[in-house]
Amino acid sequence: MAQFQYMLAPMEDFTDNAFRTLCFRHGADVTFTELLRIEALAKNVENTWARIEKKDNTPVIIQLLGNSEEDLAKFLDKFEPFDGFLGFNLNLGCPDPQVVSLGYGCAMIKNFSRVKRMVDMIKNKGYSCSVKMLLGKDAKEKEKKFYLNTIKEVDADFFIVHPRHGKEGYDKKPDYSVLKECVKTGKRIIANGDIDSKEKVELLKSFGVSGVMIGRAAVVSPQIFDKLRGNRLISPEEIKKEYSDLAEKYNAPFRYRKNVMKRII
Ligand SMILES: Cc1cc2nc3c(=O)[nH]c(=O)nc-3n(C[C@H](O)[C@H](O)[C@H](O)COP(=O)(O)O)c2cc1C
Repeated sequence: MAQFQYMLAPMEDFTDNAFRTLCFRHGADVTFTELLRIEALAKNVENTWARIEKKDNTPVIIQLLGNSEEDLAKFLDKFEPFDGFLGFNLNLGCPDPQVVSLGYGCAMIKNFSRVKRMVDMIKNKGYSCSVKMLLGKDAKEKEKKFYLNTIKEVDADFFIVHPRHGKEGYDKKPDYSVLKECVKTGKRIIANGDIDSKEKVELLKSFGVSGVMIGRAAVVSPQIFDKLRGNRLISPEEIKKEYSDLAEKYNAPFRYRKNVMKRII
């Protein structure tokens, strides 16, 4: 992963195989599944396994949510890699109060020793593993800089940093300034949050990040990756048709189609 990378963010009820393939065709280097609960995978919940069913060779990283090492071991024993599979990503970003109360998502940022063990378990199986994180579950945790400890102590292949804390909504600006200290750790840092223009990408590049991850701007315009790279763009009608064809081919669930078609411009 030497080159600067453009990544499609994981988004629940959006980033199924059809949408991931659309973004890959239009300039995303790497895509992510939406979050999948480790517990559900360990218990063989069919619906959850269906979300990692291989439909083509689009490069994909599977995102995992949970904190049970036992369940992770059970899941890893059952998992078979496939063409296009690039590795796993551990979710340390979900701010949902229910998820936080279980000690998952952004509640794991301060628990770096467990995160380290889980990442090592995945890597010991021979798979790549990255981490996607906020800056803490609240302002206090951000202030204490637990996120820096996690980046320093955990041996993940890269860290996607969305520089907000768990109590901040999208109305608050992400604090890009912290990305400089994250980069200083010597680890590979991918920037995420409100990235929608070449100017922002250039600013973040100047901080030394190794790539950018884009979520909401890719739903509005799946060609954002091509646009940022300076590639040729096709018309909105053509992009909608391309998505519809992929959704049809891969039998995308209705709510994914509805969510994407409602927002795509
Ligand atoms: C509808 C929606 C669903 C999301 N689902 C996930 C998810 O499953 N896993 C995750 O790590 N982040 C999830 N996120 C957060 C995004 O991946 C991303 O971190 C966030 O939106 C900031 O990036 P952006 O400003 O480019 O959208 C979701 C965001 C949205 C808007």
